Amino acid sequence: MIDLRSDTLTRPDEDMRKAIASAEVGDDVYGEDPTTNLLQEKIASYFGKESALFVPSGTMSNQLCLKVLTSPGDEIIADADAHIFYYETAAPAIISNVQIKTISSKLGFPDLNDIKRAIRPNIYYFPKTSVICVENTHNRHGGTIAPIEYIQKLRDLADSYKIKLHLDGARIWNAIAETGIDGASYAKYFDTISICLSKGLGAPIGSLVVSSNEYIEKARHWRKILGGGMRQVGILAAAGLYAFENNLQRLKIDHENARLFASLISEIEHINVDMARIQTNIVRFELTASINPLDFIKKCKKNGLLLSHFDGQIIRAVFYLEITSDQVRSAAEIIQYVLQSP
Ligand SMILES: Cc1ncc(COP(=O)(O)O)c(C=O)c1O
Repeated sequence: MIDLRSDTLTRPDEDMRKAIASAEVGDDVYGEDPTTNLLQEKIASYFGKESALFVPSGTMSNQLCLKVLTSPGDEIIADADAHIFYYETAAPAIISNVQIKTISSKLGFPDLNDIKRAIRPNIYYFPKTSVICVENTHNRHGGTIAPIEYIQKLRDLADSYKIKLHLDGARIWNAIAETGIDGASYAKYFDTISICLSKGLGAPIGSLVVSSNEYIEKARHWRKILGGGMRQVGILAAAGLYAFENNLQRLKIDHENARLFASLISEIEHINVDMARIQTNIVRFELTASINPLDFIKKCKKNGLLLSHFDGQIIRAVFYLEITSDQVRSAAEIIQYVLQSP
């Protein structure tokens, strides 16, 4: 079976399992897990920030960032397809008591004029706009990369209104690998960053909040409240360290596979691919109206290919470290076969 549903499907390989097995551990609630401490130091330094905090998931990481940046009753601004808005079970309302003002965009990065218009005037009957979120790369928009010039301008805009910037960098690694812009050069524009080790980097579990000492201490407090204080978590941090040290550069292979797949299927009847979106490891493609997307997914599965149904006629395929270029070709052949068979 070729499984292209998500890059979260990666499983630890032999060497990562060895790193897990030999990890030095201690009690991290006491701050005494050496492997977790090392991972936190390395990630903070890589992004040029003071501190980092290991947490179980990208959702917890995003939510801790929002918690430390906001006060109850605030409003935050995010793209209408942002993970924080779309997939995090209304957690900002529950954990931080804030509401999200969403803005639609073409590729995941709302127009700066639209953001400016969405910022609330400082009048007592409005909520206070306290945070703008950027998702880079953008999951639902198909792995699109936020241009660095856009981020710079957004920071200037945010500064002029004293608004904080949060980066949902679950897949910032893919942006870094593709553009060659390093982590610190992205991170310097943001007050808080959430990064995931469990997507394209291939670790089984784990995300980090990356920020200033002050915000990390607040995030540590809220991590405990949310039940995310873990004990001998070096077992997981060891996998994260291994992933960070070995799997970052190779992400380009996933991007090449995504481009290969997109170009192969773009030749197939009944499929439209917006090539402008194929920037990293995700391929969104559209089936023409005559094809039922759920039937299509079912038939692909029967023929050995797993894909995700996104919205309407849109299907998603994601490329990650277990997928080879031969599998990419086979996947395109299966799709062609399915669409040609009655
Ligand atoms: C952009 C983005 N942010 C955050 C998350 C949340 O990560 P987790 O599944 O670890 O909670 C995901 C998960 O796919 C994601 O794609």
